[in-house]
Amino acid sequence: MADLTGKVVLVTGAAGTIGTALVAAIRRAAATALATDLTSGKGIDHALDVTAEADWVRVIAEIERRHGRLDGLVNAAGIVALASVEDTDFATWRRVLSVNLDGAFLGCKHSFPLLKRNGGSIVNVSSVSGLVGGHNLAAYNASKGGLSLLTKSVALHGARLQPPVRCNAVCPAFVEGAMVEEIVRTARNPEAARQRLDADIPLRRLGRPDEVADLCVYLLSDESAFITGADLPIDGGLTAR
Ligand SMILES: NC(=O)c1ccc[n+]([C@@H]2O[C@H](COP(=O)([O-])OP(=O)(O)OC[C@H]3O[C@@H](n4cnc5c(N)ncnc54)[C@H](O)[C@@H]3O)[C@@H](O)[C@H]2O)c1
Repeated sequence: MADLTGKVVLVTGAAGTIGTALVAAIRRAAATALATDLTSGKGIDHALDVTAEADWVRVIAEIERRHGRLDGLVNAAGIVALASVEDTDFATWRRVLSVNLDGAFLGCKHSFPLLKRNGGSIVNVSSVSGLVGGHNLAAYNASKGGLSLLTKSVALHGARLQPPVRCNAVCPAFVEGAMVEEIVRTARNPEAARQRLDADIPLRRLGRPDEVADLCVYLLSDESAFITGADLPIDGGLTAR
């Protein structure tokens, strides 16, 4: 496990499957993890709707006041909509783009002033759906594809600074948890849908939230100091073929 001793890291979507694992992994790596999600409550330090610019301004100001520094940001908040381009209504398109892409843009933009003081690392939780298309993922594909190129632009901007701010995207295939359960539950034949999900992956299983979290911790740590602007698949070989 990489070491994050002394670092302060902000996580969005921290009540979710991957977010919960991330907060635990960041704390195991000896950093202060600031957990945020739509509503505050058990395990959530700050309410932060990633689509609301005023929330970002408030939370970043609070972090500056309480901690005086920010070393890492993980943009993990995200939503999925299963629909083809024909079946996606405009409101759904806008909602998915807003959470998955506007949210990460606002996060990068408003955390930068604190991150660049001491140098830092941003991890955007993208998806294999940011690398390859799916017939029924029109809005999700567009949001995660956009997130990959936003990542590269942020990385190139941050590379011009001294000390640098790095930015990378992790691209998981399906991960065990709420999002997958929902997809299986709403399928016409849940049992067949479940088997198809596993069978699509060369390693014949879904990812685990802790595997994604450990990759994020590595990217947040100084051990990955020469990695920036990358899309890192964590997909059991799905995008290898
Ligand atoms: N689960 C998977 O199979 C999978 C695969 C690839 C990528 N991802 C990506 O990983 C990230 C986390 O997914 P997950 O599986 O943990 O999903 P999840 O549904 O378990 O958690 C998502 C979290 O985001 C929060 N959220 C939604 N809208 C928000 C908003 N406007 N502001 C702040 N928080 C908001 C939700 O409250 C929830 O806690 C997402 O970006 C998702 O696209 C997930």
